[in-house]
Amino acid sequence: MSHTILLVDDETRLADVLTVALERLGYRVLSTGSGEDALRLLDAESVDLLLTDLRMPGMSGRDLLRESQRRQPNLPVVVMTAYSSVKDAVEVIKEGAFDYVGKPFEIDDLETVLKNALRLSDALADNERLREELVGRYRFDNLVGASPAFRKVIESITEVCESRANVLISGESGTGKEMVARAIHYNSPRRDHPFVAINCAAIPEALLESELFGHVKGAFTGAVSNRAGRFDQADRGTLFLDEIGDMPMATQAKILRVLQERAFEPVGSARTRNVDVRIVAASNKELRAEVQRGHFREDLFYRLNVFPIALPPLRERVEDIPSLARFFLGGLSVDMGKRIGGFSAAALKAMKDYAWPGNIRELQNCIERAVIVCKSDQIGEGDLPRYLSTVQPVVVDALQFPIDLDGELARIEQDLLVAALNKAEGVQVNAAGLLGINERSLWHRIKKYGIQITRRAGGDPFAG
Ligand SMILES: Nc1ncnc2c1ncn2[C@@H]1O[C@H](COP(=O)(O)OP(=O)(O)OP(=O)(O)O)[C@@H](O)[C@H]1O
Ligand SMILES: [Mg+2]
Repeated sequence: MSHTILLVDDETRLADVLTVALERLGYRVLSTGSGEDALRLLDAESVDLLLTDLRMPGMSGRDLLRESQRRQPNLPVVVMTAYSSVKDAVEVIKEGAFDYVGKPFEIDDLETVLKNALRLSDALADNERLREELVGRYRFDNLVGASPAFRKVIESITEVCESRANVLISGESGTGKEMVARAIHYNSPRRDHPFVAINCAAIPEALLESELFGHVKGAFTGAVSNRAGRFDQADRGTLFLDEIGDMPMATQAKILRVLQERAFEPVGSARTRNVDVRIVAASNKELRAEVQRGHFREDLFYRLNVFPIALPPLRERVEDIPSLARFFLGGLSVDMGKRIGGFSAAALKAMKDYAWPGNIRELQNCIERAVIVCKSDQIGEGDLPRYLSTVQPVVVDALQFPIDLDGELARIEQDLLVAALNKAEGVQVNAAGLLGINERSLWHRIKKYGIQITRRAGGDPFAG
């Protein structure tokens, strides 16, 4: 696609010669003799570069530069000047011109300058497009789900995104907490500033404070230089504190101070830093219970809980399962170059009957696996993990109360773990994927139940 150059020069003869030369180089050229007229053209046409003379009667090239930047900050401006004093050149570049050429100039030299300027503006436009795409991905209409339970969530997000209120998102693992946090950010007035996420459970206690607040050189062994923390990175944007229930009490106290005073000190520094950060926190633990058990500061809890959003587990929004499944199928079959149109009725039923302990993430993993194994144009029940259809839901009517609920749940959990490990031939990372949990969590459960894993030579793996 050819680029459009807006040429502004009051010397008509030079302008005509330049126009012809630039057109020969493949550019589309709009030419005018006055700054005022140039601004009208800028508003009316799509222009990729402004090439302007510096001294003109009426509006000067410098005024035009200033005005064009106000209207289109990413439009590159190249200035031509007959009085090629270094001082002029430095001035216009300081004011934001991309470059200048001194008259008279060779067309080759001008071409080099134009090419560089256009390369930069193309890169900026690409960036803008990527950013728009990112914003688009987290628009409300891209959050799948129309169940009453999920509609309430969307309503909450809509309500809170305009404000800077702290938000506390709770929900089981895989219910979409991070997705909601991003949606809040990208629909808020802070969307042009960073969204920074930190998982408090994944970072060793000793490093968490330095991650959050940064450190100065020499603050501890290994601190070889100053380093900015996530609070600095998120300035004017949003900081997502994931798994905040796992944050040590001492760090909680510092977070509380940032919330109250918007101030903190990097590790090893006495210099206070001020930031403007909106906090969105998430936890899959019941934080109120953590407060009661003395594991979470009550004052911090109330500060964060200004605006709570509780994400329903998937089993409480069964209506959304088909649309979520189709949504994931659509994306995945394109990615994997397969033409799979939908699901068989039996597959849909199996998915709706299943309890999805790993929630949306488990559903997503399950569809991904189904797309891989599916050999027809429709996902059948046989393409789904076997535990979806073989594990019998507890037949509540047949139960003899009283029961031992914890014992029953543990039994079901063990069955599922063993089934997944067998299916995955003892490979834990694959078994975790089948269960929609992470490997660490699987490992904890294997230990808890003392499940023995054997990978027999020649296949026929065995877990029991
Ligand atoms: N409403 C939704 N529509 C479409 N995709 C969703 C929706 N909610 C969640 N997802 C997808 O499901 C997956 C899990 O979501 P997310 O990571 O936000 O969950 P989480 O609650 O943070 O999980 P965890 O507790 O495991 O960290 C992601 O891939 C996300 O894109
Ligand atoms: Mg998460």
